Amino acid sequence: IPSKHFQFNVEWKKVTRLCHTKQLLTINGEYPGPTIIINEGDNVQVKVTNRVARNTTIHWHGIRQLRTGWADGPAYITQCPIGTGKTYTYNFTVINQRGTLLWHAHYSWQRASVYGAFIIYPRMPFPFSAPVQAHIPIIFGEWWNADVDAVENEMMLYGGGPNSSDAYTINGLPGPLYPCSIKDTLIQTVERGKTYLLRIINAALNDELFFAVANHTLTVVEIDAVYTKPFTTSAIMIAPGQTTNVLLTANQIPGDSTGMFVMAARPYLTSVFPFDNSTTIGFLKYKTTMEIERNKAPSPPYILPSNLPPMVDTAFATNFSNQLRSLASVDYPCNVPKEVEKRVITTIGLNLQDCPVNQTCKGYRNKRFYASMNNQSFIRPSRSVLESHYWKLKTGYASDFPEKPPHVFNYTGVDPVAENMNTEFSTRLLEVPYGTKLEIVLQDTNFLNPENHPIHVHGHNFFIVGRGFGNFDVDKDPAGYNLVDPPERNTVAVPVGGWAAIRITADNPGVWFIHCHLEEHTSWGLAMGFIVKKGPESSQCLLPPPSDLPPC
Ligand code: C2O
Ligand code: CU
Repeated sequence: IPSKHFQFNVEWKKVTRLCHTKQLLTINGEYPGPTIIINEGDNVQVKVTNRVARNTTIHWHGIRQLRTGWADGPAYITQCPIGTGKTYTYNFTVINQRGTLLWHAHYSWQRASVYGAFIIYPRMPFPFSAPVQAHIPIIFGEWWNADVDAVENEMMLYGGGPNSSDAYTINGLPGPLYPCSIKDTLIQTVERGKTYLLRIINAALNDELFFAVANHTLTVVEIDAVYTKPFTTSAIMIAPGQTTNVLLTANQIPGDSTGMFVMAARPYLTSVFPFDNSTTIGFLKYKTTMEIERNKAPSPPYILPSNLPPMVDTAFATNFSNQLRSLASVDYPCNVPKEVEKRVITTIGLNLQDCPVNQTCKGYRNKRFYASMNNQSFIRPSRSVLESHYWKLKTGYASDFPEKPPHVFNYTGVDPVAENMNTEFSTRLLEVPYGTKLEIVLQDTNFLNPENHPIHVHGHNFFIVGRGFGNFDVDKDPAGYNLVDPPERNTVAVPVGGWAAIRITADNPGVWFIHCHLEEHTSWGLAMGFIVKKGPESSQCLLPPPSDLPPC
């Protein structure tokens, strides 16, 4: 198999945005980080050298890591962190996956600046007909003027309070709606009449985003590196951890001499909370014949695309998600389990705890927020669960994650404060035999939370067989599941005050993190994990740990 080698040096780099200069944690001094481009089937070896006085790990988000869980990356789940001055080579083979994914640091909130695109070129031609002129990565992120470690510490200490970033970014650029940022604006050149594949990635820490390009429609062809039935839309909704490939045809006539159309991203929230409601914009610039290269943002005023949904447009978000379907063709069949051997129902949501004495808390009613799944607020152990599992050390974790909510929640209740007080801090994982056909129903408890929880599963893709609002009804809702062409992905945005049912074939032995991809919620404990035991065949076990695996 062909091998592709990359060197990732973790290092500080002085970066200026919004007139603030600060040391940013980067890979090779790049922000966003380098794009990894490989072919389907390649072996990938990324040598990560840590040159900063911080621990770190890197995660290849959405890569299945078949039998190579040691290369997955989440700290204390599959490995211990790479310490200062240390090196670890992530070594894995990308089997039967093609499309757009992302990589990012998986330690603390380092993803704030340590992230990049992961592009897998397919072996077979694209299943859509339009000839693609060029591939354009569009990566959303967030910029903080403050030190992100400080933001994270404050959020943990006070259990709430403002965590908003100072800007959303496209490819690291905030765009001209933010102070001092006209020069930091994405100008993407296109040729009239040509079709482009936009590889859109949401690497933001805490926000789902709407994205639209003025006067242009987008044809969705792939999500999370899985082809979809193409559909055309005026805008997309994308949650942190998700990727969406869309075709864009430059078929408009630019209205003015600049030849530019605004592209814009802003958050999707279900109510107007005091979060960042700002908008990042860039420009699509049509090449004109008498061009002298003027890749400068035009001067204000800037008119936002009329097809960009307003911040509180749940109808658009719901309708968009409901249109996603697996391609389900002969070449790309949809392998959704038609029946399952196990159904786990878990709440996902925020909890409140009393504030420690002599401390101020910034959660709700002077209390502090935690977050949990089935009231288990996840605590990372001090040795990776994968090592404990592999070496059969029965310490640091338990394999008894509760398979039902601890009591009946009123999920859509008005003030479920009392019910949300009983969080247990634990490291309980679900353990299943190799090959188990598993259903997990994720039930949002709708507690003071204006955002969908984007739940991400490591090591496996899953099928979203159902989603809805209100309480999941185990007697009625499964009858409405889509078992024909449900969307397949690695991250599902569970609707606020609603639920999503996902089906997984647990065919990847190892230990896999499941968590909310809003970094704040993960820090508060909205996470669990599942252990897939080895199967009877020799090809159904985890490979032994690499010799350079970082020690704890
Ligand atoms: Cu993209 Cu566990 O994360
Ligand atoms: Cu969440």
